[in-house]
Amino acid sequence: MPHPPSLSVTVHPTPALAGRPALPADKSIAHRAAIVAAISDGDCRIAGFPDAADPQSTLACLRALGVAMEIDADGVLTVHGVGLDGLRAPDGPLDCGNSGTTMRLLAGLLAGRPFETRLTGDASLSRRPMERIAAPLRAMGARVHTTDGHAPLTVGGSTALDGIPYRLPVASAQVKSAVLLAGLGARGSTTVVEPTPTRDHTERMLELDVLHLGAERHITVAGGTRVRARAYAVPRDVSAAAFFLVAGSTAEQAVIEMPGVGLNPTRTAILDVLRAMGARITVHSERERGGEPIGDLRVEAPAAGLHGVDVAGDAVANLIDEIPVLAVAAACARGTTTIRDASELRHKESDRLAVTAAVLRAMGADVAEQPDGLTIRGRAANGPSLAGGVTVDAHGDHRIAMAAAVAALAARAPTTITGAEHAAVSFPGFWDALESVAAGAVERVSV
Ligand code: S3P
Repeated sequence: MPHPPSLSVTVHPTPALAGRPALPADKSIAHRAAIVAAISDGDCRIAGFPDAADPQSTLACLRALGVAMEIDADGVLTVHGVGLDGLRAPDGPLDCGNSGTTMRLLAGLLAGRPFETRLTGDASLSRRPMERIAAPLRAMGARVHTTDGHAPLTVGGSTALDGIPYRLPVASAQVKSAVLLAGLGARGSTTVVEPTPTRDHTERMLELDVLHLGAERHITVAGGTRVRARAYAVPRDVSAAAFFLVAGSTAEQAVIEMPGVGLNPTRTAILDVLRAMGARITVHSERERGGEPIGDLRVEAPAAGLHGVDVAGDAVANLIDEIPVLAVAAACARGTTTIRDASELRHKESDRLAVTAAVLRAMGADVAEQPDGLTIRGRAANGPSLAGGVTVDAHGDHRIAMAAAVAALAARAPTTITGAEHAAVSFPGFWDALESVAAGAVERVSV
């Protein structure tokens, strides 16, 4: 991936927001649609494939594995599936860029291939834990080498894998998906046991059997399952919508509409938590598209503002990517918000607990950091909101850049965000989308 030019953005306080921001297509669903299409038995059309850097990293890797694809003028991507056995040894390492999903899912997909593949990533991805996928893949008989538990990784080049039962030690949809994709090419069946439910796009797409045993989910894939070619449609990303849900909920006046957003129940805890804080979010025209539930979202500024809430337990895995912007909502709410059981955030594109706390503190919030969470003391009744008036850095993390921008809209003085170009990892049009609901608020300086 070519490196985008650095960008600094100054965001001006904006009490009234209105509009329909153009949201990107869902990153999690897009990665999986491309991978599953690549190993299907024919041509697959994927409507609305996003041009964000992360899903594009997956496409580049699949092309290097010998999968042909082209995109038409309407943005429909056609992937010419080659079947699992049709994947070819790439000429060199596969560059996964900044994308953990690309690296972990492809490691699972390629672990049982007769050729060896090397997977590399950028500096941030090379700091993220990879033993969590290496361990179960080795238990299936795969050869996997990590670099002290990190990327670069080499996978594959051994004999066929054996299916295993595997209980996830961390709530991770990426680990679950890596094991299930490896299981597709293994002898016998593979069952992943999930004590805490995580996003279920992989099992939906592969139409796998899922057994619900109390709170646990047992997901089974039969080795040798042939993946049939089909059409996919990628909905708008609820994790991208979250920035505007919080912006609308922390403004003095707001009406923001976002049609066609993915509303998979493993992804929508952010709606429940914001509503519990007093947010006015409504969902209209719920329907299904391409095997995923979608709907039209509308957020209005709550007349009485937001109030604090406690977030812990199973809900955390369901809103893991939304926690930085949830912390912004908490900093603008009355009373205290606690976020617990979220130590996984330390292993994302940045240490999101430390970085969220640092950015919000710099903007004037009262934030205490714990090993597994944050305590955010919001404003006193009718007290001041965030001060702003500072420069904060995105720390190379797309969600931190966007969360800081949302905080800046609700602050008292303009805030400059450096490293703002990182938003393009998941949301290339973010700064335009922000401008579309907050005219005149966004001032960009390429550096
Ligand atoms: C993702 C799963 C989550 C999430 C990431 C995308 C996925 O990571 O944070 O942005 O598409 O499977 P983990 O499964 O590692 O928690």
